[in-house]
Parts: sequence; structure tokens; C-alpha cells
Amino acid sequence: MTQPPLPAFPPGFLWGAAASAFQTEGAADADGKGPSGWDAFAARGRIKDGADTARATGFYERYREDVALLAGLGADAFRFSVSWPRVVPGGSGPVNARGLDFYDRLVDELCAHGITPAPTLYHWDTPLPLDEAGGWLERDTAYRFAEYARAVAERLADRVPMWITVNEPAEVTLLGYALGEHAPGRQLLFDALPAAHHQLLAHGLAVQALRAAGAHDIGLAVSHSPVWAAGEGEEDRSGARLYDTIANWMYADPLLTGRYPDENLAALLPGPVADDLAVIATPLDWYGVNYYHPMLVGGPSRHALGAFAGVGMPPELPFGLREIETGERTDFGWPVVPDGLRELLVSLKERFGERLPPLFVTENGCSYDGLDDRRRIAFLDAHLRALHQAIEEGVDVRGYFTWSLTDNIEWAEGASQRFGLVHIDYETLTRTPKASYRWYRDVIREQKSTR
Ligand code: NOJ
Repeated sequence: MTQPPLPAFPPGFLWGAAASAFQTEGAADADGKGPSGWDAFAARGRIKDGADTARATGFYERYREDVALLAGLGADAFRFSVSWPRVVPGGSGPVNARGLDFYDRLVDELCAHGITPAPTLYHWDTPLPLDEAGGWLERDTAYRFAEYARAVAERLADRVPMWITVNEPAEVTLLGYALGEHAPGRQLLFDALPAAHHQLLAHGLAVQALRAAGAHDIGLAVSHSPVWAAGEGEEDRSGARLYDTIANWMYADPLLTGRYPDENLAALLPGPVADDLAVIATPLDWYGVNYYHPMLVGGPSRHALGAFAGVGMPPELPFGLREIETGERTDFGWPVVPDGLRELLVSLKERFGERLPPLFVTENGCSYDGLDDRRRIAFLDAHLRALHQAIEEGVDVRGYFTWSLTDNIEWAEGASQRFGLVHIDYETLTRTPKASYRWYRDVIREQKSTR
């Protein structure tokens, strides 16, 4: 590469890679695992390329190979997720010891290689019985989640030094409950907001349950995008403000300040929430940010609403998404805007000041095809420079997890969007490191040698 070496990151900065259970494990009904809402969504033919999600990358059987790949990278930490229906197949009731055994083996394997296990407890695979009873629209789901969190911590807290409760509650709400593009496929538009509240409550209850079981260093992974107004006019600015509220601050504010950002949200939330907010704001040890790209948002227009075509979006929706003009786009069509990461990290510090705990970038990456994936290298290089710049500007960021270690099932897109540093041949499940794997290995090696 023609780029000069990356600037030195602070000593102790954590270099990691991330993945999740549904996207990699397969073994959809092995060893007593129950079905998840995503298994059912896939069975209904909702995965666009028909990928075999019950097999995925075969991580359940091949985890040792992937841990060896992490060791080859020199990674400090691996962010994986625990499958809730593997541990509590019925969503409530008995814990499946054989399901926990798998994570026990995985954690031991990581520790044996000196890699920090960083499990996420909810990466979107809700046990099907809970989904069928209303999923995150039901308050009860939050309590069931806390029970499950406790069971996992009782088994693993002696070896796990970093915990993530929930992943991207905003995407679950928006894609799963408002628009229906993800499981459970509901199209409730603004009536989806109770799903956000209950995930936040689940997070708060889980923090308390984890601590009661002896776990420490607890955070979560929240997706954030800088939101830019499409124009100077009042319609564009208010559309962008509203989008910013429901995509960013509706999550970060209650977590970090114990308040929802907008009084008008109250009518859309499930009943009195004051007591819940105290639980949601249970102090965190750190806060995780998933960053992919900014959003350009304007007022409603025929063109803007076209972005939602096919999901029945009503014409009165008060904002619309616009295309960001950039030179570079990923295979997913996402704009490549590395400085958005710096902008967002700095905006979190400006908004929350002393209340902001140390940050981790819990996800960042891109979908590109091919083994000689120079565009992924350019993407990661540019984002790490932007992250370093944010640190220079005073933001306390302690580590970075790239998404993802291997190619995997990109939810409703199936296997066709490839985010991995390592290629998966879905016929044979053979793993082949890409150019970006060697690049990241060299970055980690060089950063450690300058510490
Ligand atoms: C965020 C999600 O947490 C992850 O599961 C997904 O694959 C990436 N974004 C890429 O879309």
C-alpha cells in the first residue's frame, strides 16, 4: 500500500475483531438449541439469496480454526455473541447446559491463545417462543433476557473480562419492528417504539443481573451515524432532527443521562417509563459504538420516500433518506465516509461530556468481494486514521473491533455481502485469509512494537 504507516495508538489500545452467533454458528438445532425468530424468518424465505443460515459458516464446529485465525492476526480480543435460544431454548424456563458448554469451550480456547473473550448477549436471535408472544413489544421479554444473562454470567464470568449486553437496539426496532425487513418482520412504523424501550430496559436489567453474578466491565454496542440535513430549509432540518432523535439519541440519552431526548416520544412509549429510565441508566463501564456511514436526511418528498419503497411507508412520514454523493461505495452501496467516525465520536463527547464513559468502537467494516480486497484495506486504514484523530481531539477510545473476522450471513442479504477479513467458501466452509487479513495483522504487530 502507498499509505504511510498508521500513527501510534495509545498504549493498551485493544485490537479486536467481531462476529455474531446467527451469522456464523450454524448448527441451528444442535445440542438442544431452540429456534430463533431469525431461523423462522429464514424458513419463511426471507433471506434474499436463500443462503443456508442453518449452516452459516459452520463456526459451531470450526471455532478452533477461527480462534487460530484470530491468534494469527495477533488480535487482543474477539467479540462473538451467545445465542439466547441455544442457552434458553424456550425463551423462559430451563437452561440448556449443553448450549452453555459450547461457549465454555470457546472461551477456554480463546483464553488458551491469550485472546480476550468479549461476548454479546443479544445479537438479534430472540428465542422463537418469545418472538411469537410479541418479542420486544412485550415488557416480559426484558425480564426473560435478564434471567438468561444471569445464567450465562454464572457459567462464564470467571473467565470473561468484557461483556456486551445488547447489539444495535435501533436496527432491531427499525428493521425488525418498524419496516419488517428483518425478523420478526413487523411493519409497525412509529408503533414500533415500545420495542426500543424494552430492549433498553432489558439492557439495564441485564447489567444488574451480570453484576450480581460477578461480571464486570459491562457495556453495549449502539449503532451511531452522524445525521446531516439535506438542505438549509426548515423541512430538511426538522426531518434530520427527527431522524437523529430516533436513530441516535433515543438510545444514547436514556443510557447515559436517564432521559429520553424528546417529550413527544412519550406518547409512543409503553406507559409510564420513569422507573424504567433509572434502570436503563445503570452506570456503564464503557460504551460501544458501531459505525458504518452517515445519513443524509431531508423533509418528506416523493423521491425521498422512494427509499422505503415496498415497505408501505405512509406519505405523511416526516423525513426522507437521501443519497450521499461520495466517490467510493461498498458492494452494499454504502457511502464510504471515514471522517464520519471522527465526527460522531467527537459529537458524543460534546453531547455527554463527563457522563460519557470510555468508548470502544465495537464494529466498523465494509462489504467487498474478492480475496485481493484492497478496497477493504483502504476503508479500514482511513477509518483507523479518523479514529486516531478523534483520540487526538480528546475522545477516550480504548479499542477497535473490525466487522468481521470472516465472511458471514449478512442477515436478510444472506451470504452475498462479504464483510470478512477471511473468505468463506460456502460449499466447503474453507477459510482463506484475504489481503486485508494480512494488512490488519501487520497493523497490530506494528502498533504493539511501538508501545
Ligand atoms: C451491524 C450488525 O451488528 C452486524 O450484525 C451486521 O452484520 C453489520 N452491521 C453489517 O451490516
